[in-house]
Amino acid sequence: DVVDIRTFSKTGMFTYDPGFLATASCESAITFIDGDQGQLYYRGYPIEQLAEHSDYLETCYLLIFGELPTAEQKADFVKTVTRHTMVHDQMTRFFQGFRRDAHPMAMMVGVTGALSAFYQDSLDINNPRHREVTMYRLISKIPTIAAMCYRYSKGLPFNYPKNDLSYAANFLQMMFATPCEDYKPNPVLVRALDRIFTLHADHEQNASTSTVRLAGSSGANPFACIAAGIACLWGPSHGGANEAVLKMLDEIGSVDNVPAFMEGVKNKTHKLMGFGHRVYKNMDPRAAIMKKTCDDVLKELGLENDPKFKLAMALEKIALEDPYFIERKLYPNVDFYSGIVLTALNIPVSMFTVIFALARTVGWISHWNEMISDPGMKIGRPRQLYTGSPRRDYVPVEKRK
Ligand code: ACO
Repeated sequence: DVVDIRTFSKTGMFTYDPGFLATASCESAITFIDGDQGQLYYRGYPIEQLAEHSDYLETCYLLIFGELPTAEQKADFVKTVTRHTMVHDQMTRFFQGFRRDAHPMAMMVGVTGALSAFYQDSLDINNPRHREVTMYRLISKIPTIAAMCYRYSKGLPFNYPKNDLSYAANFLQMMFATPCEDYKPNPVLVRALDRIFTLHADHEQNASTSTVRLAGSSGANPFACIAAGIACLWGPSHGGANEAVLKMLDEIGSVDNVPAFMEGVKNKTHKLMGFGHRVYKNMDPRAAIMKKTCDDVLKELGLENDPKFKLAMALEKIALEDPYFIERKLYPNVDFYSGIVLTALNIPVSMFTVIFALARTVGWISHWNEMISDPGMKIGRPRQLYTGSPRRDYVPVEKRK
């Protein structure tokens, strides 16, 4: 009897959930999103409180270890992260293989994956000490690599990390310092960047985190898994959205062109980038914090009348009152304002998603570690509904029509 193989996967208990709209892939104790209320918690702490009172490295500690550190634990953590900021000298030559005009995210994927070739002494995923060292290495070295991507694309010499600076200040120093100047980053801008890092640090099972988990579930090494996460983040529906928002604001040009642009959105010619979210069906809490940060930064720089900020605010106002957006519960997400802040910090658009990857590395590695530490971990293996040809017999090439 010939069985129609297409019916095979439809037997037994089987769920079909394209895009995983309603399927949990794991248990996790790291981050909770209440999408209906527009709330986000890291290890139980509301994001608003962390953005206001904590800093990025303390948040990293919280995400990895589950508790806020004591003063002593925090000092130790910062010291260890700081100690690992250098990358192997041979990595500088690795960069020279890339074209200067390569997208920085392309370099990030390659260089981060290559870390597993440079740091082979921490690749035993079953050894908790190796896992911890790898986590430190990633959090410490990703800003160095990110800044190297930028400097390489500009044809500038790499800047060494400066370990007396904070995490965010050091990143700005590695990006922008020139050899003949005593670079002193503006504290308001440093705080804004640190906040961007905190807001992007984790977001439970989004596409890139799920990618890291899936890659890690086969036992692949953590540097390779993070490279997979970076690759996934690159897309415009995910981490590439902040870059897409800036391009969109440039295309719209001025507030006068907003109505015509909105007509195109409703006719589905294009999307309003920086709007909408799979989980938030209310305001993304990070967007409100980012808007305030944007305001602070523009004031500090005397750019209160920045036309892009004005245009973004006009778009937000119109969208929040428009039935198309109200019916579909489309609200601004974190990336709607982050691009304006990053531009004010002099960070080029091509580096926006890199900054996101830098900040999200701690979330990815925390999830990877949570998964690997689980004795019941299984390789991730989604099923499918087969829609191809039924069974048929091979036809030799001379008999094919
Ligand atoms: N602009 C206009 N319409 C939109 C938008 C948008 N940004 N987002 C969703 N819609 C519409 C869809 O066309 C659809 O309309 P329909 O019901 O008439 O078909 C409806 O809203 C539901 O949208 P889905 O695409 O089904 O929602 P989904 O949960 O799959 O997508 C996503 C979420 C990918 C974030 C989407 O809203 C989007 O593409 N937004 C723009 C890109 C963006 O800002 N991404 C950043 C996400 S946050 C982050 O990664 C940090």
